[in-house]
Amino acid sequence: MLLERRPSRRLPVPDAVSVTITTSTEQHERTIVSVTDQHLPTPTIAPADGKLGVVCVGLGAVATTFIAGVELIRRGMADPVGSLSQMGTIRLGKRTDQRAPVIKDFVPLAALDDIVFGAWDPFEDDAYVSAVKAGVLDVARHLEPIAEQLRAIQPMTAAFDPTYVRKLDGPNVKSDTSKRVLLESIRDDIRGFREQHACDRMVMVWCGSTEIYIEPSAAHMDIGAFDAAIDDDDPTISPSMLYAYAALLEGVPFANGAPSLTVDIPALRQFASDHNVPICGKDFKTGQTMVKTALAPMFKARMLAMDGWYSTNILGNRDGEVLDDPDAFKSKEHSKLGVLDTILQPDLYPELYGDIDHVVRINYYPPRGDNKEGWDNIDFHGWLGYPMQLKVNFLCRDSILAAPLCLDLALFMDLAQRAEMAGIQEWLSFYFKSPQVAPGLYPEHDLYIQQTKLKNTLRWMMGEDQITHLGVEYYADDYLPSE
Ligand SMILES: NC(=O)c1ccc[n+]([C@@H]2O[C@H](COP(=O)([O-])OP(=O)(O)OC[C@H]3O[C@@H](n4cnc5c(N)ncnc54)[C@H](O)[C@@H]3O)[C@@H](O)[C@H]2O)c1
Repeated sequence: MLLERRPSRRLPVPDAVSVTITTSTEQHERTIVSVTDQHLPTPTIAPADGKLGVVCVGLGAVATTFIAGVELIRRGMADPVGSLSQMGTIRLGKRTDQRAPVIKDFVPLAALDDIVFGAWDPFEDDAYVSAVKAGVLDVARHLEPIAEQLRAIQPMTAAFDPTYVRKLDGPNVKSDTSKRVLLESIRDDIRGFREQHACDRMVMVWCGSTEIYIEPSAAHMDIGAFDAAIDDDDPTISPSMLYAYAALLEGVPFANGAPSLTVDIPALRQFASDHNVPICGKDFKTGQTMVKTALAPMFKARMLAMDGWYSTNILGNRDGEVLDDPDAFKSKEHSKLGVLDTILQPDLYPELYGDIDHVVRINYYPPRGDNKEGWDNIDFHGWLGYPMQLKVNFLCRDSILAAPLCLDLALFMDLAQRAEMAGIQEWLSFYFKSPQVAPGLYPEHDLYIQQTKLKNTLRWMMGEDQITHLGVEYYADDYLPSE
């Protein structure tokens, strides 16, 4: 399906003013709307009829754990633990109303039974073999019962270039290396998959390796320059950008689970908005950063001063091996380091947070496999400068934490598209270490602000009141002036 440029459903809006916003790398014309979010019209959401194709770029540890989990859940062999969309409830109305439906019953999400999976990977292993090699799931308990379904998922040939992921090289790759031909080949794969599985809608989730760090540059600034750079085989166009562009050209929402630049460039952001396709990213927020963005707001809420935050990890899966390359780690480091500054706001609180040593390390240590161990040491001080420490030792399972995020993102991105919500889906920043936001905005990193944002967006989509937590109505007798 080729999407045509359509006028945005969100216009016209009252009292719109056009302003120019300059960030360190870009200059943008943006329309700032002087109405509150709540006054934007509630969207009309198309029903979730038919099949939803979920195509993962990369069929490694995260993707196979995600796919296997959904297969087991739909057979009633497991619960969707960790998935907000499947297990979480949403409060509606007043606290006294007792209305708290499960999210999947509140918004019209695709049913798990209607999902069909596909993937690309430079290795030839089908989903069963790849899952066994990833070593995340118990073979007898969680892979054998669904072996047939997993074996049926054969990876499509990858648009892969070891220049961007130096630690890997596999045989299942597209033979032509011209970027234009690769782009068209990914588009053919999407169309072929859609037809073969009779999908009504599709979503693409990047579960592939982290690419080397790429700075946004002239080739990424608008779609004309981007297209020209593809024709020139410009090295600043990475394979992940080709997947993202192919998805957008085919009208398929794109979620980026890795920290690579990918769809976080002006050219693709604008293209997604203009063509009514949702995008979101970057980098699944699962382990240490999830903990960091839950803990940092606590220090800030109590106005406790921070001296340093040292974070280190050991990780032994293929992702850890890829991140052992300093250029791939640089992408991850950027994504992990940003969170403290935006939560603690050192510009507003220079005496509390103006001078923090924030260090993040990832060490590849094969014996641990997918079972990452993270250590955090936080040096902080309180009243009259007395020093204190908090130490966190998180023994987590990387892909077990990431898989439910893939499910939620696939379902919510499909929902967003059916609601005609185009471009960046900031309400899904709950799922990301380095959330994509509109130019000129800082991202919200606080896990609980992100959760509130997500739930309020769902309330808005369904025409329900926002929950502000003001709550004065419960004390009306006490607070209202007596007559
Ligand atoms: N908790 C988590 O597991 C977590 C959290 C945040 C981000 N991530 C990111 O998610 C991604 C997947 O993690 P993983 O543990 O599954 O890694 P993995 O190495 O097990 O799987 C990645 C797969 O992507 C494939 N791949 C690489 N380049 C590709 C390309 N151009 N086209 C198609 N396939 C390609 C690789 O061959 C590999 O099989 C990584 O980028 C990782 O940084 C994971």
